[in-house]
Amino acid sequence: MKKLMIDANALEGTITIPGDKSITHRAIMFAAIAKGTTKIEGFLYAEDCISTMNIFRDLGVQIDEEPDGSVIVHGKGIDGLTAPQKALDAGNSGTTMRLLAGLFTGFPFKTKIIGDDSLSKRPMNRVMLPLRQMGASISGSDGSEFAPLYIQPVDHLNAIEYDMPVASAQVKSSILLAGLSAEGTTVIHEKERSRDHTEKMLKNFGVDLRVEDRDIYLKGGQTLTASDITIPADISSAAFFIVAALLVKGSKLNMPNVGLNPTRAGIIEVLKDMGANIEINLHEGGLSGDLTVHWSNLKATEFGGDIIPTLIDEIPIIALAATQAEGKTIIRNAEELKVKETDRIKATTQELNKMGANIEETEDGMIITGPTPLHAAEVDSYGDHRIGMMLQVAALLVKEGTVQLAHPEAVNISFPSFFDDLAALSK
Ligand code: S3P
Repeated sequence: MKKLMIDANALEGTITIPGDKSITHRAIMFAAIAKGTTKIEGFLYAEDCISTMNIFRDLGVQIDEEPDGSVIVHGKGIDGLTAPQKALDAGNSGTTMRLLAGLFTGFPFKTKIIGDDSLSKRPMNRVMLPLRQMGASISGSDGSEFAPLYIQPVDHLNAIEYDMPVASAQVKSSILLAGLSAEGTTVIHEKERSRDHTEKMLKNFGVDLRVEDRDIYLKGGQTLTASDITIPADISSAAFFIVAALLVKGSKLNMPNVGLNPTRAGIIEVLKDMGANIEINLHEGGLSGDLTVHWSNLKATEFGGDIIPTLIDEIPIIALAATQAEGKTIIRNAEELKVKETDRIKATTQELNKMGANIEETEDGMIITGPTPLHAAEVDSYGDHRIGMMLQVAALLVKEGTVQLAHPEAVNISFPSFFDDLAALSK
């Protein structure tokens, strides 16, 4: 149990948000299978990304952690990795397990990927089914779709043309990584565009990959060439400070160099729609920028459809913002939240309602009626980093009493300095 900070004073100053988790995972993966040495700056030192880093060390890749926080990966080429001596541990990370399931199907040795209790309950058929269509030998525990995943080498993988049944960058990326070892051109069709870090980064590593509208084409048998990377701050982590600044009276917070890839930045659009005062100084290329967020009066909104994949990880913190907004906020088409690190619709609804919010759980989202004052309660992250951080932001609005959080250590998955950074700001 952790006693959370309550009744915050205005949050003022500049906060450096840690590196993007999705990009950090891919940076390690692509650098490891590239030929040559890649320097990664802005690396996210958090449990999920360390799981990915350790897996590649288990596959014989030398990865140096420099005193300045950068990471040097001595890539061995896609055919240069060596058979691991043990099961490869993805920890809590769905991105690690699903992307590597695709990559490993092309390897000439067998692999076993394990995960923690939460990850071992998350659906893996979404990657195993298309990978099997490509000829992969991959199975879950005791014939189920759940981890541990067992991958056996096969003589041949064939490219497929795949219509994505869910909007998922993890599934898309898993198929593309298998496609690197497949014969022919892998084609993926997305109904709704999910985050495109894999496509962008593979191109930076010299891969010939074509994106036409919502179709992606990747020729098999290509090699990756080392390419230095600078990772921007994670908008999914910035989201907690953005909403904190919007809600805590008198706040004004600067966040430099936040990743604003349009496939990730839906939260900004929704919050602006709610009346948020967020200034953006967009950097060249349009993929990152500096944010200044001012305390604002918010009003309710409705969203669903295409925008959902661009803000999927931010819905719990947007729901908190909606509890303080005037009117009824309706979130639709967000059923994917049920299969995240925890059922985030249920966790958000239950925990915020314990604090006095008025949230109704629906089949595919939430209906939030605001504004409601929040009061002290005992709450639980359920081991989910984003639920834990959202609840700490909620506690900032509680005027008196004690807010206790069970499983606070979950924040280490993506933002180990979260509690300290917040405490430093509100002094
Ligand atoms: C991620 C994709 C998303 C997101 C997750 C990270 C990625 O998951 O929720 O936090 O890095 O590709 P899905 O692919 O399941 O939508």
